[in-house]
Amino acid sequence: MAVTQSSGMMRVMQLFLDSADPKEVKQALKLTSLDGLTTNPSLAAKVGRPYKDLVKEILGLVSGPVSLEVIATDYEGMLTQARRLAQLGNQVVVKIPCTPAGLKAVQTLKSEGIKTNVTLVFSLNQALLVGKTGSDYCSPFVGRLNDLEAESGERLIAQMRAAYDEYDFSTQILAASIRSVANVENMIRLGADAATLPLQVLTQLIEHPLTDKGLQAFLSDWKQSGLQLPA
Ligand code: E4P
Repeated sequence: MAVTQSSGMMRVMQLFLDSADPKEVKQALKLTSLDGLTTNPSLAAKVGRPYKDLVKEILGLVSGPVSLEVIATDYEGMLTQARRLAQLGNQVVVKIPCTPAGLKAVQTLKSEGIKTNVTLVFSLNQALLVGKTGSDYCSPFVGRLNDLEAESGERLIAQMRAAYDEYDFSTQILAASIRSVANVENMIRLGADAATLPLQVLTQLIEHPLTDKGLQAFLSDWKQSGLQLPA
């Protein structure tokens, strides 16, 4: 189900970068155009720069949706932070944790036209509640589930795809906590709307030993033949 028909529109899985580091964004953009980007507080803490500076730089580099996460855990605090984050750029999507206060905040933010991405989703029941809020994105954590039980992250994506299609939810499934190229292939097969990848996994997507081997053989055969391309 890599490419599916939805409401008469063809859709293809979107590739996001999972990073808060502008240097990594620049490296990723040399490999492919990014459909969007996700950050989280842990990723931002690793960069070692003032948060507002790195966010501004990222927003200048990525034209698609950029998820920025609130730190508050109470309803009012999340709303205040979400409104401030949303003012940083048109493409900002506010990441809200999957808690009762978080889901209530999502509904309020939706009524204000602020885009949301509900994060830290680990079960079909949580995903159902997120879909019912009308959040723009829902982020199930594939890798962290697989750390507990092999393939359980993939199982959740399959269950979410079936449920979201059955109930006609508009929320996009943004597969997060992706750790390997095998995870990415599974996300394509299972019909995730988007997957957010660390730079290392994004880099590996284009690599295959048979591509390198085949290219070397083509070039070597061509050189030995003495053939010339048309001038
Ligand atoms: C999205 O940004 C998530 O926070 C992120 O993919 C989590 O990844 P991790 O489980 O590798 O920390």
